[in-house]
Amino acid sequence: MNVILVAAECAPFSKTGGLGDVAGALPKALARRGHRVMVVVPRYAEYAEAKDVGIRKRYKVAGQDMEVMYFHAYIDGVDFVFIESPVFRHLSNNIYGGNRLDILKRMVLFCKAAVEVPWYVPCGGVCYGDGNLAFIANDWHTALLPVYLKAYYRDHGIMKYTRSVLVIHNIAHQGRGPVDDFSYVDLPSHYLDSFKLYDPVGGEHFNIFAAGLKAADRVLTVSHGYSWEVKTLEGGWGLHNIINENDWKFRGIVNGIDTKEWNPKFDLHLHSDEYTNYSLETLHIGKPQCKAALQKELGLPVRPDVPLIGFIGRLDHQKGVDLIAEAVPWMMSQDVQLVMLGTGRPDLEEVLRQMEHQYRDKARGWVGFSVRTAHRITAGADILLMPSRFEPCGLNQLYAMNYGTIPVVHAVGGLRDTVQQFDPYSETGLGWTFDSAKAGKLIHALGNCLLTYREYKESWEGLQRRGMTQDLSWDNAAEKYEEVLVAAKYQW
Ligand code: GLC
Repeated sequence: MNVILVAAECAPFSKTGGLGDVAGALPKALARRGHRVMVVVPRYAEYAEAKDVGIRKRYKVAGQDMEVMYFHAYIDGVDFVFIESPVFRHLSNNIYGGNRLDILKRMVLFCKAAVEVPWYVPCGGVCYGDGNLAFIANDWHTALLPVYLKAYYRDHGIMKYTRSVLVIHNIAHQGRGPVDDFSYVDLPSHYLDSFKLYDPVGGEHFNIFAAGLKAADRVLTVSHGYSWEVKTLEGGWGLHNIINENDWKFRGIVNGIDTKEWNPKFDLHLHSDEYTNYSLETLHIGKPQCKAALQKELGLPVRPDVPLIGFIGRLDHQKGVDLIAEAVPWMMSQDVQLVMLGTGRPDLEEVLRQMEHQYRDKARGWVGFSVRTAHRITAGADILLMPSRFEPCGLNQLYAMNYGTIPVVHAVGGLRDTVQQFDPYSETGLGWTFDSAKAGKLIHALGNCLLTYREYKESWEGLQRRGMTQDLSWDNAAEKYEEVLVAAKYQW
Protein backbone atom coordinates (compact mmCIF):
# COMPACT_ATOMS: atom_id res chain seq x y z
CA MET A 1 0.00 0.00 0.00
CA ASN A 2 1.11 3.60 -0.51
CA VAL A 3 0.90 5.65 2.66
CA ILE A 4 1.42 9.39 3.07
CA LEU A 5 1.70 10.71 6.60
CA VAL A 6 1.08 14.44 6.87
CA ALA A 7 1.99 16.36 10.00
CA ALA A 8 2.92 19.83 11.19
CA GLU A 9 6.11 18.49 12.78
CA CYS A 10 8.42 15.56 12.30
CA ALA A 11 11.47 14.63 14.38
CA PRO A 12 14.40 15.01 14.02
CA PHE A 13 13.68 17.91 11.63
CA SER A 14 11.06 19.65 13.71
CA LYS A 15 9.60 18.78 17.07
CA THR A 16 7.70 20.41 19.88
CA GLY A 17 6.35 17.22 21.43
CA GLY A 18 5.26 13.63 20.98
CA LEU A 19 3.56 14.31 17.64
CA GLY A 20 6.98 14.98 16.12
CA ASP A 21 8.30 11.70 17.51
CA VAL A 22 5.39 9.74 16.08
CA ALA A 23 5.71 11.37 12.65
CA GLY A 24 9.41 10.49 12.67
CA ALA A 25 9.05 6.86 13.70
CA LEU A 26 5.73 5.40 12.52
CA PRO A 27 6.48 5.88 8.78
CA LYS A 28 9.75 3.96 9.10
CA ALA A 29 7.97 1.10 10.83
CA LEU A 30 5.32 1.01 8.07
CA ALA A 31 8.10 0.99 5.47
CA ARG A 32 9.71 -1.97 7.25
CA ARG A 33 6.43 -3.79 6.74
CA GLY A 34 6.83 -3.42 3.01
CA HIS A 35 4.72 -0.34 2.31
CA ARG A 36 5.76 2.58 0.19
CA VAL A 37 5.73 5.46 2.67
CA MET A 38 6.04 9.22 2.40
CA VAL A 39 6.05 11.92 5.06
CA VAL A 40 4.93 15.43 4.15
CA VAL A 41 5.93 18.20 6.54
CA PRO A 42 6.63 21.94 6.22
CA ARG A 43 10.18 23.05 5.59
CA TYR A 44 10.85 25.27 8.60
CA ALA A 45 14.59 25.38 8.06
CA GLU A 46 17.18 24.21 5.59
CA TYR A 47 17.60 20.49 6.00
CA ALA A 48 20.91 19.60 4.38
CA GLU A 49 19.82 16.15 3.21
CA ALA A 50 16.69 17.36 1.38
CA LYS A 51 17.09 18.53 -2.22
CA ASP A 52 14.87 20.79 -4.30
CA VAL A 53 12.93 18.62 -6.75
CA GLY A 54 12.54 21.62 -9.05
CA ILE A 55 8.76 21.82 -9.08
CA ARG A 56 6.73 24.92 -8.28
CA LYS A 57 3.01 25.08 -7.60
CA ARG A 58 0.72 27.95 -6.74
CA TYR A 59 -2.19 27.82 -4.33
CA LYS A 60 -4.74 30.44 -3.44
CA VAL A 61 -5.04 31.15 0.25
CA ALA A 62 -7.39 33.90 1.39
CA GLY A 63 -7.41 35.33 -2.12
CA GLN A 64 -3.63 35.48 -2.25
CA ASP A 65 -1.48 33.49 -4.65
CA MET A 66 1.17 31.52 -2.81
CA GLU A 67 3.97 29.56 -4.38
CA VAL A 68 5.35 26.38 -2.87
CA MET A 69 8.43 24.33 -3.65
CA TYR A 70 9.16 20.76 -2.70
CA PHE A 71 12.33 19.32 -1.15
CA HIS A 72 12.91 15.62 -1.01
CA ALA A 73 15.08 13.17 0.92
CA TYR A 74 14.97 9.39 1.08
CA ILE A 75 15.88 8.22 4.57
CA ASP A 76 15.53 4.76 6.14
CA GLY A 77 13.17 3.59 3.42
CA VAL A 78 10.88 6.63 3.66
CA ASP A 79 10.37 9.54 1.22
CA PHE A 80 10.42 12.81 3.14
CA VAL A 81 8.85 15.70 1.28
CA PHE A 82 9.28 19.16 2.77
CA ILE A 83 6.98 21.89 1.58
CA GLU A 84 8.75 25.17 1.19
CA SER A 85 7.05 28.55 1.42
CA PRO A 86 8.02 31.86 3.01
CA VAL A 87 5.21 31.32 5.54
CA PHE A 88 7.00 28.31 7.06
CA ARG A 89 10.52 29.61 6.89
CA HIS A 90 12.29 30.51 10.14
CA LEU A 91 9.57 28.94 12.26
CA SER A 92 11.84 26.17 13.54
CA ASN A 93 11.60 27.27 17.14
CA ASN A 94 8.07 28.53 16.89
CA ILE A 95 6.10 26.11 14.73
CA TYR A 96 2.73 27.13 16.13
CA GLY A 97 3.63 30.80 16.51
CA GLY A 98 1.70 33.77 15.17
CA ASN A 99 -1.91 34.83 15.51
CA ARG A 100 -4.92 32.62 14.81
CA LEU A 101 -5.29 33.66 11.20
CA ASP A 102 -1.59 33.30 10.41
CA ILE A 103 -1.67 29.74 11.69
CA LEU A 104 -4.92 28.97 9.90
CA LYS A 105 -3.57 30.25 6.57
CA ARG A 106 -0.38 28.25 6.99
CA MET A 107 -2.33 25.07 7.61
CA VAL A 108 -4.66 25.75 4.65
CA LEU A 109 -1.66 26.15 2.35
CA PHE A 110 0.06 23.09 3.81
CA CYS A 111 -2.98 20.81 3.48
CA LYS A 112 -3.83 22.02 -0.03
CA ALA A 113 -0.29 21.30 -1.16
CA ALA A 114 0.02 18.03 0.77
CA VAL A 115 -3.08 16.45 -0.72
CA GLU A 116 -1.60 16.96 -4.20
CA VAL A 117 1.91 15.78 -3.41
CA PRO A 118 1.30 12.26 -4.76
CA TRP A 119 0.70 13.79 -8.19
CA TYR A 120 3.39 16.43 -8.39
CA VAL A 121 6.39 15.15 -6.51
CA PRO A 122 8.33 12.38 -8.19
CA CYS A 123 9.92 10.12 -5.59
CA GLY A 124 12.48 8.02 -7.38
CA GLY A 125 10.04 7.65 -10.26
CA VAL A 126 7.37 6.08 -8.07
CA CYS A 127 3.89 7.49 -8.28
CA TYR A 128 2.06 7.43 -4.99
CA GLY A 129 -1.27 8.32 -6.48
CA ASP A 130 -1.90 5.02 -8.21
CA GLY A 131 -5.15 4.22 -6.49
CA ASN A 132 -3.83 2.24 -3.56
CA LEU A 133 -3.20 5.25 -1.40
CA ALA A 134 -4.04 6.25 2.17
CA PHE A 135 -3.27 9.52 3.94
CA ILE A 136 -2.60 9.67 7.66
CA ALA A 137 -3.36 13.18 8.97
CA ASN A 138 -2.49 14.22 12.51
CA ASP A 139 -4.26 16.57 14.93
CA TRP A 140 -6.21 19.68 13.97
CA HIS A 141 -3.30 21.17 12.02
CA THR A 142 -3.78 18.67 9.22
CA ALA A 143 -7.45 17.84 9.83
CA LEU A 144 -8.27 19.88 6.70
CA LEU A 145 -6.60 17.25 4.56
CA PRO A 146 -9.41 14.67 4.78
CA VAL A 147 -11.85 17.49 4.02
CA TYR A 148 -9.91 18.63 0.94
CA LEU A 149 -9.50 15.06 -0.25
CA LYS A 150 -13.26 14.73 -0.16
CA ALA A 151 -14.35 18.14 -1.38
CA TYR A 152 -11.80 18.66 -4.16
CA TYR A 153 -11.52 15.09 -5.39
CA ARG A 154 -13.72 12.32 -4.14
CA ASP A 155 -16.91 14.37 -4.43
CA HIS A 156 -15.98 14.67 -8.12
CA GLY A 157 -15.14 11.03 -8.61
CA ILE A 158 -11.38 11.65 -8.58
CA MET A 159 -8.99 9.81 -6.19
CA LYS A 160 -12.03 7.69 -5.48
CA TYR A 161 -10.12 4.95 -3.77
CA THR A 162 -7.81 7.16 -1.74
CA ARG A 163 -8.54 6.95 1.97
CA SER A 164 -7.78 9.21 4.90
CA VAL A 165 -7.16 8.40 8.54
CA LEU A 166 -7.10 11.19 11.11
CA VAL A 167 -5.07 10.60 14.28
CA ILE A 168 -5.96 12.46 17.47
CA HIS A 169 -2.86 13.15 19.54
CA ASN A 170 -4.49 15.86 21.58
CA ILE A 171 -8.08 16.93 21.22
CA ALA A 172 -7.74 19.97 23.43
CA HIS A 173 -6.42 21.95 20.45
CA GLN A 174 -9.01 22.13 17.67
CA GLY A 175 -8.39 25.08 15.37
CA ARG A 176 -11.31 27.09 16.70
CA GLY A 177 -12.34 30.53 15.47
CA PRO A 178 -15.36 32.62 14.58
CA VAL A 179 -17.69 31.16 11.93
CA ASP A 180 -16.34 33.74 9.44
CA ASP A 181 -13.07 31.80 9.35
CA PHE A 182 -14.80 29.50 6.91
CA SER A 183 -13.97 32.00 4.16
CA TYR A 184 -10.26 31.16 4.55
CA VAL A 185 -10.50 27.43 3.97
CA ASP A 186 -11.77 27.76 0.40
CA LEU A 187 -14.50 25.13 0.32
CA PRO A 188 -17.97 24.97 -1.27
CA SER A 189 -20.59 26.54 0.96
CA HIS A 190 -22.34 23.26 1.70
CA TYR A 191 -19.27 22.31 3.75
CA LEU A 192 -19.86 25.13 6.21
CA ASP A 193 -22.10 23.03 8.43
CA SER A 194 -19.47 20.42 9.04
CA PHE A 195 -17.23 23.12 10.57
CA LYS A 196 -19.89 24.62 12.78
CA LEU A 197 -19.92 23.58 16.38
CA TYR A 198 -21.86 24.87 19.30
CA ASP A 199 -20.72 24.61 22.86
CA PRO A 200 -21.82 26.41 26.00
CA VAL A 201 -18.46 28.15 26.41
CA GLY A 202 -17.60 29.26 22.89
CA GLY A 203 -21.15 29.42 21.53
CA GLU A 204 -21.44 28.75 17.82
CA HIS A 205 -17.97 28.69 16.28
CA PHE A 206 -15.80 27.34 13.49
CA ASN A 207 -13.94 24.16 14.33
CA ILE A 208 -11.44 22.47 12.01
CA PHE A 209 -11.07 19.29 14.04
CA ALA A 210 -14.85 18.77 13.88
CA ALA A 211 -14.87 18.86 10.07
CA GLY A 212 -11.82 16.59 9.86
CA LEU A 213 -13.38 13.99 12.16
CA LYS A 214 -16.47 13.89 9.98
CA ALA A 215 -14.62 13.71 6.66
CA ALA A 216 -11.96 11.13 7.59
CA ASP A 217 -12.59 7.46 6.75
CA ARG A 218 -11.10 6.31 10.02
CA VAL A 219 -10.18 8.09 13.23
CA LEU A 220 -7.52 6.94 15.65
CA THR A 221 -6.46 7.99 19.08
CA VAL A 222 -3.00 7.26 20.40
CA SER A 223 -4.17 4.89 23.15
CA HIS A 224 -7.25 2.84 24.09
CA GLY A 225 -7.82 4.79 27.28
CA TYR A 226 -7.87 8.04 25.37
CA SER A 227 -10.30 6.72 22.76
CA TRP A 228 -12.72 6.20 25.59
CA GLU A 229 -12.00 9.53 27.27
CA VAL A 230 -12.61 11.63 24.13
CA LYS A 231 -16.16 10.30 24.07
CA THR A 232 -16.92 11.86 27.44
CA LEU A 233 -18.04 15.39 28.16
CA GLU A 234 -14.90 16.01 30.17
CA GLY A 235 -12.39 14.47 27.76
CA GLY A 236 -13.88 15.48 24.41
CA TRP A 237 -13.46 19.24 24.85
CA GLY A 238 -16.73 19.85 23.01
CA LEU A 239 -16.19 17.21 20.31
CA HIS A 240 -17.54 14.20 22.23
CA ASN A 241 -20.89 14.26 20.42
CA ILE A 242 -19.30 14.14 17.00
CA ILE A 243 -17.03 11.36 18.14
CA ASN A 244 -19.92 9.34 19.53
CA GLU A 245 -21.86 9.78 16.31
CA ASN A 246 -18.88 8.45 14.37
CA ASP A 247 -18.02 5.73 16.84
CA TRP A 248 -17.89 3.04 14.16
CA LYS A 249 -14.77 4.51 12.62
CA PHE A 250 -12.88 4.93 15.89
CA ARG A 251 -10.04 2.93 17.31
CA GLY A 252 -7.19 3.42 19.80
CA ILE A 253 -3.65 2.30 19.03
CA VAL A 254 -0.94 2.86 21.62
CA ASN A 255 2.12 4.61 20.19
CA GLY A 256 5.41 2.81 19.98
CA ILE A 257 8.80 4.31 20.67
CA ASP A 258 11.83 4.74 18.47
CA THR A 259 13.94 1.97 19.95
CA LYS A 260 17.02 3.16 18.12
CA GLU A 261 16.95 6.58 19.65
CA TRP A 262 15.59 5.60 23.05
CA ASN A 263 17.65 2.57 23.88
CA PRO A 264 20.08 2.58 26.82
CA LYS A 265 22.32 0.21 24.91
CA PHE A 266 22.99 2.61 22.04
CA ASP A 267 21.93 6.01 23.37
CA LEU A 268 24.39 8.56 21.94
CA HIS A 269 23.75 10.95 24.81
CA LEU A 270 25.26 8.42 27.19
CA HIS A 271 28.50 8.28 25.22
CA SER A 272 30.83 10.17 27.55
CA ASP A 273 33.49 9.52 30.15
CA GLU A 274 30.98 9.82 32.96
CA TYR A 275 27.83 8.22 31.56
CA THR A 276 27.70 4.78 30.01
CA ASN A 277 25.46 2.66 27.82
CA TYR A 278 23.82 -0.32 29.46
CA SER A 279 21.35 -3.12 28.84
CA LEU A 280 19.40 -5.51 31.01
CA GLU A 281 22.55 -7.60 31.54
CA THR A 282 24.64 -4.63 32.65
CA LEU A 283 21.87 -2.70 34.38
CA HIS A 284 23.37 -3.16 37.86
CA ILE A 285 26.61 -1.44 36.78
CA GLY A 286 25.46 0.89 34.04
CA LYS A 287 22.48 2.52 35.68
CA PRO A 288 24.28 3.42 38.93
CA GLN A 289 27.07 4.92 36.82
CA CYS A 290 24.56 7.05 34.89
CA LYS A 291 22.95 8.08 38.15
CA ALA A 292 26.27 9.18 39.63
CA ALA A 293 27.10 11.05 36.41
CA LEU A 294 23.72 12.80 36.47
CA GLN A 295 24.08 13.77 40.14
CA LYS A 296 27.51 15.16 39.36
CA GLU A 297 26.34 17.01 36.26
CA LEU A 298 23.49 18.57 38.22
CA GLY A 299 25.71 19.43 41.18
CA LEU A 300 23.74 17.21 43.57
CA PRO A 301 25.47 15.08 46.22
CA VAL A 302 26.68 11.89 44.54
CA ARG A 303 24.92 9.24 46.62
CA PRO A 304 24.02 5.84 45.15
CA ASP A 305 21.44 5.03 47.85
CA VAL A 306 19.21 8.10 47.58
CA PRO A 307 16.23 7.72 45.24
CA LEU A 308 16.55 10.15 42.34
CA ILE A 309 13.16 11.28 41.03
CA GLY A 310 12.73 12.89 37.61
CA PHE A 311 10.12 14.88 35.71
CA ILE A 312 10.43 15.79 32.03
CA GLY A 313 7.76 17.69 30.15
CA ARG A 314 5.94 20.83 29.23
CA LEU A 315 5.29 22.97 32.26
CA ASP A 316 1.53 23.33 32.09
CA HIS A 317 -1.76 22.37 33.62
CA GLN A 318 -2.10 19.21 31.47
CA LYS A 319 1.14 17.76 32.77
CA GLY A 320 0.13 18.27 36.43
CA VAL A 321 3.26 20.23 37.31
CA ASP A 322 1.26 22.06 39.97
CA LEU A 323 0.57 18.72 41.69
CA ILE A 324 4.29 18.07 41.91
CA ALA A 325 4.79 21.61 43.22
CA GLU A 326 2.23 20.90 45.93
CA ALA A 327 3.97 17.65 46.82
CA VAL A 328 7.45 19.20 46.92
CA PRO A 329 7.47 20.07 50.65
CA TRP A 330 6.60 16.45 51.48
CA MET A 331 9.16 15.11 49.02
CA MET A 332 11.84 17.37 50.45
CA SER A 333 11.08 16.07 53.93
CA GLN A 334 12.18 12.66 52.64
CA ASP A 335 15.70 11.59 51.81
CA VAL A 336 15.29 11.96 48.03
CA GLN A 337 16.62 13.99 45.12
CA LEU A 338 14.38 15.60 42.51
CA VAL A 339 15.18 16.93 39.06
CA MET A 340 12.62 18.62 36.81
CA LEU A 341 13.24 19.57 33.18
CA GLY A 342 10.91 21.60 30.99
CA THR A 343 9.65 24.91 29.71
CA GLY A 344 6.18 26.36 29.60
CA ARG A 345 4.02 28.61 31.72
CA PRO A 346 6.12 31.40 33.27
CA ASP A 347 4.59 30.87 36.74
CA LEU A 348 5.49 27.17 36.66
CA GLU A 349 8.99 27.95 35.41
CA GLU A 350 9.24 30.19 38.46
CA VAL A 351 8.13 27.30 40.68
CA LEU A 352 11.09 25.26 39.37
CA ARG A 353 13.55 28.08 40.03
CA GLN A 354 12.16 28.66 43.53
CA MET A 355 12.32 24.98 44.36
CA GLU A 356 15.96 24.78 43.35
CA HIS A 357 16.74 27.92 45.30
CA GLN A 358 15.07 26.64 48.44
CA TYR A 359 16.37 23.07 48.36
CA ARG A 360 19.79 23.40 46.77
CA ASP A 361 21.14 20.14 48.17
CA LYS A 362 18.16 18.10 46.93
CA ALA A 363 16.38 19.60 43.96
CA ARG A 364 17.12 20.93 40.51
CA GLY A 365 14.70 22.79 38.26
CA TRP A 366 16.11 22.98 34.75
CA VAL A 367 14.08 25.49 32.78
CA GLY A 368 14.76 24.74 29.13
CA PHE A 369 14.47 22.06 26.53
CA SER A 370 17.45 19.82 26.13
CA VAL A 371 17.21 16.51 24.32
CA ARG A 372 20.51 15.40 25.81
CA THR A 373 19.43 16.18 29.36
CA ALA A 374 16.11 14.41 28.79
CA HIS A 375 17.99 11.25 27.78
CA ARG A 376 20.36 11.55 30.72
CA ILE A 377 17.59 12.03 33.26
CA THR A 378 15.76 9.04 31.78
CA ALA A 379 18.89 6.94 32.27
CA GLY A 380 20.12 8.35 35.58
CA ALA A 381 16.86 8.69 37.52
CA ASP A 382 15.32 5.84 39.53
CA ILE A 383 11.76 7.10 39.28
CA LEU A 384 9.86 9.20 36.72
CA LEU A 385 6.80 11.22 37.71
CA MET A 386 3.93 11.79 35.27
CA PRO A 387 0.94 13.23 37.11
CA SER A 388 -0.72 14.46 33.87
CA ARG A 389 -4.37 15.49 34.18
CA PHE A 390 -4.91 13.96 30.76
CA GLU A 391 -2.42 12.16 28.56
CA PRO A 392 -3.48 10.87 25.15
CA CYS A 393 -0.55 8.46 25.08
CA GLY A 394 2.54 9.80 26.78
CA LEU A 395 5.95 8.72 25.62
CA ASN A 396 8.21 9.54 28.56
CA GLN A 397 6.82 6.69 30.66
CA LEU A 398 7.64 4.31 27.79
CA TYR A 399 11.15 5.69 27.45
CA ALA A 400 11.58 5.42 31.23
CA MET A 401 10.54 1.75 31.36
CA ASN A 402 12.95 0.94 28.54
CA TYR A 403 15.75 2.42 30.70
CA GLY A 404 14.80 0.62 33.93
CA THR A 405 13.35 3.78 35.43
CA ILE A 406 10.10 3.21 37.29
CA PRO A 407 7.10 5.40 36.39
CA VAL A 408 4.68 6.86 38.92
CA VAL A 409 1.68 8.10 36.94
CA HIS A 410 -1.86 9.39 37.09
CA ALA A 411 -3.93 6.56 35.58
CA VAL A 412 -5.39 8.38 32.56
CA GLY A 413 -5.32 7.85 28.80
CA GLY A 414 -2.18 6.18 27.59
CA LEU A 415 -0.64 6.18 31.05
CA ARG A 416 -3.37 3.84 32.23
CA ASP A 417 -2.85 1.61 29.19
CA THR A 418 0.89 1.32 29.56
CA VAL A 419 1.71 1.38 33.28
CA GLN A 420 0.11 -1.45 35.24
CA GLN A 421 0.12 -0.92 38.99
CA PHE A 422 2.73 -2.97 40.87
CA ASP A 423 1.25 -5.79 42.91
CA PRO A 424 3.63 -6.96 45.67
CA TYR A 425 1.78 -10.24 46.16
CA SER A 426 2.04 -11.53 42.65
CA GLU A 427 5.15 -9.48 41.82
CA THR A 428 3.53 -8.13 38.67
CA GLY A 429 3.11 -4.64 37.25
CA LEU A 430 5.34 -1.92 35.93
CA GLY A 431 5.05 1.05 38.27
CA TRP A 432 2.68 2.98 40.49
CA THR A 433 -0.57 4.62 39.47
CA PHE A 434 -3.01 6.92 41.25
CA ASP A 435 -6.58 7.51 40.30
CA SER A 436 -7.23 11.21 40.66
CA ALA A 437 -5.20 14.30 39.96
CA LYS A 438 -4.58 15.28 43.57
CA ALA A 439 -1.25 15.93 45.29
CA GLY A 440 -2.26 13.63 48.17
CA LYS A 441 -2.76 10.74 45.75
CA LEU A 442 0.57 11.41 44.11
CA ILE A 443 2.26 11.42 47.51
CA HIS A 444 0.60 8.16 48.48
CA ALA A 445 1.73 6.39 45.28
CA LEU A 446 5.22 7.84 45.45
CA GLY A 447 5.45 6.88 49.12
CA ASN A 448 4.79 3.24 48.26
CA CYS A 449 7.23 3.42 45.40
CA LEU A 450 9.98 4.83 47.69
CA LEU A 451 9.31 2.14 50.27
CA THR A 452 9.78 -0.56 47.67
CA TYR A 453 12.93 1.11 46.39
CA ARG A 454 14.44 1.17 49.89
CA GLU A 455 13.20 -2.06 51.41
CA TYR A 456 12.49 -4.53 48.64
CA LYS A 457 15.41 -4.57 46.26
CA GLU A 458 14.30 -7.74 44.51
CA SER A 459 10.86 -6.39 43.78
CA TRP A 460 12.49 -3.25 42.42
CA GLU A 461 14.71 -5.24 40.11
CA GLY A 462 11.69 -7.23 38.98
CA LEU A 463 9.91 -3.99 38.07
CA GLN A 464 12.94 -2.83 36.11
CA ARG A 465 13.31 -6.16 34.34
CA ARG A 466 9.66 -6.33 33.31
CA GLY A 467 9.81 -2.74 32.05
CA MET A 468 12.94 -3.33 30.02
CA THR A 469 11.84 -6.57 28.40
CA GLN A 470 8.57 -5.25 26.95
CA ASP A 471 8.33 -4.83 23.21
CA LEU A 472 7.62 -1.11 22.99
CA SER A 473 8.78 -0.77 19.42
CA TRP A 474 6.74 0.75 16.63
CA ASP A 475 6.57 -2.58 14.84
CA ASN A 476 3.63 -3.68 16.99
CA ALA A 477 1.73 -0.47 16.49
CA ALA A 478 2.52 -0.32 12.77
CA GLU A 479 0.82 -3.66 12.27
CA LYS A 480 -2.35 -2.25 13.82
CA TYR A 481 -2.14 0.90 11.69
CA GLU A 482 -1.95 -1.37 8.70
CA GLU A 483 -5.17 -3.10 9.75
CA VAL A 484 -6.91 0.26 9.96
CA LEU A 485 -5.62 1.39 6.57
CA VAL A 486 -6.82 -1.84 4.99
CA ALA A 487 -10.21 -1.58 6.69
CA ALA A 488 -10.61 1.98 5.41
CA LYS A 489 -9.81 0.85 1.93
CA TYR A 490 -12.54 -1.76 1.79
CA GLN A 491 -15.28 0.42 3.18
CA TRP A 492 -17.29 2.47 0.74
C1 GLC B 1 0.54 14.51 22.22
C2 GLC B 1 -0.05 13.94 23.49
C3 GLC B 1 0.82 12.82 24.07
C4 GLC B 1 1.14 11.81 22.98
C5 GLC B 1 1.74 12.51 21.77
C6 GLC B 1 2.06 11.56 20.63
O1 GLC B 1 1.68 15.24 22.51
O2 GLC B 1 -0.24 14.95 24.48
O3 GLC B 1 0.17 12.17 25.13
O4 GLC B 1 2.04 10.86 23.47
O5 GLC B 1 0.86 13.48 21.28
O6 GLC B 1 0.93 10.87 20.17
